[in-house]
Amino acid sequence: MDAERRTNADCLESIKEVVAGGVSSSMRAAAVPVPLVVRRADGCLLRDVEDNELVDFNMGYGPHLFGYADRDVADAVADQFTKGHMTGLPHELDAEAGSLIAELVPGVEQVRFANSGTEAVASVLRLARATTGRSLVVTFDGHYHGWSETVLRAGSKTTFQIKGARPTDVVPGAPGMIPEALAHTAQLPWNDAEAVKELFARDGGRIAAVILEPVLTNAGVIPPVPGFLELLRDLTSRSGAMLIFDEVITGFRVARGGAQEFYGVEPDLTVLSKVMGGGFPVAAFGGRKNAMRMLATNEAYHAGVYAGNHAALRAVVTMLTKIRALPGLYDELESVGAGAENALREVFAAEKRPVHINRVGTLMCVALLKKPLEKNDTLRDLTEAIDFSRHRRLQVLAQREGVYFHPNALEPWFLSTAHTGDVLDKAAGALRRGLTELG
Ligand SMILES: Cc1ncc(COP(=O)(O)O)c(C=O)c1O
Repeated sequence: MDAERRTNADCLESIKEVVAGGVSSSMRAAAVPVPLVVRRADGCLLRDVEDNELVDFNMGYGPHLFGYADRDVADAVADQFTKGHMTGLPHELDAEAGSLIAELVPGVEQVRFANSGTEAVASVLRLARATTGRSLVVTFDGHYHGWSETVLRAGSKTTFQIKGARPTDVVPGAPGMIPEALAHTAQLPWNDAEAVKELFARDGGRIAAVILEPVLTNAGVIPPVPGFLELLRDLTSRSGAMLIFDEVITGFRVARGGAQEFYGVEPDLTVLSKVMGGGFPVAAFGGRKNAMRMLATNEAYHAGVYAGNHAALRAVVTMLTKIRALPGLYDELESVGAGAENALREVFAAEKRPVHINRVGTLMCVALLKKPLEKNDTLRDLTEAIDFSRHRRLQVLAQREGVYFHPNALEPWFLSTAHTGDVLDKAAGALRRGLTELG
């Protein structure tokens, strides 16, 4: 068949023949109920194999602060490929990339690089356990820290909508996991200060680390309630546990120095990825030198053939140099976010649909509701109010009309500097037509 004339459905079928389920991340399996096979991506626009153009609010799950196909990153990485991009030896780029992160992120003096958020989280937890000599790690419901064995729980992103599951249940998140792997992971409801205090009072001496997304981005974009991050900082410091911010999404996005700068709370260790690489697969974890000591002295272990390869670090240097050089960038991003939020609110209001929109800068949760939402600090309140199946139906209709967002109503929408002007009008029009059809 002529490749130019294939449909999304045809193409997806041929992908499924050779790629199990048609996707290389189980996270994506439910992301596109109507087949969508991409041919190009520019700015915030996707072009599929049928030549339809869609405004994208999922944006590859978050790395593209300046939109797809950013020339600076593309040119720099292409140049690095011609110079040798992977030798497994130290390179001047290690110092450049590390210095930029240390300059921009308040709690980081030293880093280690990795290839993905999952790897970086697995390594940072191992480092925290090695440093403290303790095993218990505290997590929060709805927070996602990748798919490694000690953090993928039911109650995390994959399965937190399981009927009857309580926020404190710690159940393996996928078939094939060793049940005992989660024996040293506790889970608490997000923003529940009393639950945290109770756990520390009972088990403080056993806790190696508390890990969290400082804004619960992966389920509802729920910010911390005032004082919650400070409470975690205080309790971890007093009990000798490490506070870890998973800033895979918030890093370099909610502020130049991430959520730790935005909220003014410094963790012991930080995980970074996404925006830092501008779409290139790269991650890092780091902290002050004393927190990284066991890696510096080679008493702890973190490895990877491709970790910190020169192409990935060239992408990091390019993105962070650019971010550092744009003084008004975060004001611009805030106004992009406000513009998008207003445009969306107008569409839902015009169609008289109850909608919930949570926004922190360029991160949004946009969800159709079945009942009014009075309180929005907890995942449970939000989950009970959202009309998930109607939201999914809206996604299908909106996609046909030219706008793509994730069908799970709790997933974050990601904006970039490209989400302005005509593109936003186009998205609003497509969404309005989708809502009309939804009836
Ligand atoms: C907060 C957070 N941590 C960790 C991860 C895992 O990163 P990766 O998918 O690169 O392994 C993600 C992925 O979306 C994430 O959002």
